[in-house]
Amino acid sequence: MSVNQMATWSGAQKFDEIMPQVWEALQVKVDRMIAQLGDKSPHVAKEDGVYDDMRIDWWTSGFWPGILWILYDMTGKEHYKEAAWRWDEKLEQASVRNNNFHHDVGFQYLPTAVIKHKLTGDSDGLRRGLQAANFLAGRFNLAGSFLRAWNQDKIGWSIVDSTMNLSILFWAAEMTGDPRFEQIGRAHADTVVDKFIREDGSVNHILSFDPKSGELIESLGGQGAGPLSAWSRGASWALHGLANVYRYTGEVRYLRAAQRVANYFLACLPEDHVAHWDFRAAESLDDEPRDTSAATCAASGLIELAEFLPAVEGNVYRRAAERMLLSLTQKYGTWDQPEHQAILLEGTGNKPAGQNVNVSLIYGDYYYVESIAKLLGWKQRIF
Ligand code: GLY
Repeated sequence: MSVNQMATWSGAQKFDEIMPQVWEALQVKVDRMIAQLGDKSPHVAKEDGVYDDMRIDWWTSGFWPGILWILYDMTGKEHYKEAAWRWDEKLEQASVRNNNFHHDVGFQYLPTAVIKHKLTGDSDGLRRGLQAANFLAGRFNLAGSFLRAWNQDKIGWSIVDSTMNLSILFWAAEMTGDPRFEQIGRAHADTVVDKFIREDGSVNHILSFDPKSGELIESLGGQGAGPLSAWSRGASWALHGLANVYRYTGEVRYLRAAQRVANYFLACLPEDHVAHWDFRAAESLDDEPRDTSAATCAASGLIELAEFLPAVEGNVYRRAAERMLLSLTQKYGTWDQPEHQAILLEGTGNKPAGQNVNVSLIYGDYYYVESIAKLLGWKQRIF
C-alpha cells in the first residue's frame, strides 16, 4: 500500500468512493497473511503485530478459514480454496480428542465445514457440519428454552453470543428435512428476544437459569462492564444473529428485535462511528477503548438488515454500516504496516478480565471482510 494511496483514502467522504481499491488491498493483505500465518490458528495480535497460534477447539478457529473461503468465492482464485481446505478436517480431529468444544461450534463449523460444502459440494464438509449441528442441538435446555453456553459447572448459563451460532441449526434443518433443528433454533432465538434484549435495545451478556426448573435467576456481567451495562460486541452478536434468524424463518418478530438492537447501537456511537467496548462503561467514554470487532460484526448485520427492509428504511442501516467501514478503513487499518499480520487494530477482547485490550482480533478482521464482500454484491452467506 503506497503512501499516496493511503492519502487518497483519507480524503474520501463515502466508503463507496474507495471500496474497489480497498478490496484490491485486502487481497494483497490476505495473500501476505497466508504466507505469514502458515498453519497457525490466529486469535489475537498484540503490539508486535504477530498473530498468536490458538488451540483449534478455541471458539475463534473458524474465522481465518472463513476469510479465505469468502475470497475464494468472490475471486475464484484456487489458492484461497487450497489454504482453507483442511480446516474442517483439523476441527474433526480435535473433536475426537480431549477438547473443550461448546456452543460456539457454529462460529467454528459455519466458516469451515458448512461453507466448504456449500461452495464445493464436499461430502466431508456436509457430514462434519451436521455433526456440529447435532452437538449444538444436544445442548438445548427444554425447561428454560435456551442453549447451554459453556462446559464444566456452568450448566444453566446462556449467553447472547449463541445467537450467531443458530445459523448452523437452520442450515441443518434445510439439509436434513428434520424440523427439530429449526425448532431449537427458534426456541433459543425467542429467549434472546424475550430475555436477553432489554426494552431500550441494549443487551444482557450472560443470563443464568435454574437448569432444572428453567427459571431465570439473574443477569451476570460477563465481558461487559457489569450486569446492567451494554457490552457492544454482545449487541453486535444479537443484531447480526437475529437478522440471520429472520433470513431463515421470515418471522418479523426477529427482524424487529434486530432493528431494536441496531437502533440502540447506532444511537450510542461516537463521532467516528466505531463503537467503544461497552456503551455504559463510564459516565464519559472518551478514555475507554474501542472495539473494532463490535463495529465490523454490527456493520455486517446492518447490511443484512438493509436487504430485508424497504429502501427508505434499509438505506439508513446501509449508510450507517458504510460510515463505520469508512472510519475503520481510514483510522484503524494496518495498511501502512505490511509486516502486521492483522487487518484492523483496536479490538477489545475481554476488558473486565484485563485480556486483549487494544489488540487485533481475527473475528474483527473476518467481519470486516464479510461486510465489504456483502457491499460488493456477495450473495453467499456463511452465518
Ligand atoms: N465470547 C465471545 C466473545 O468474546 O465475543
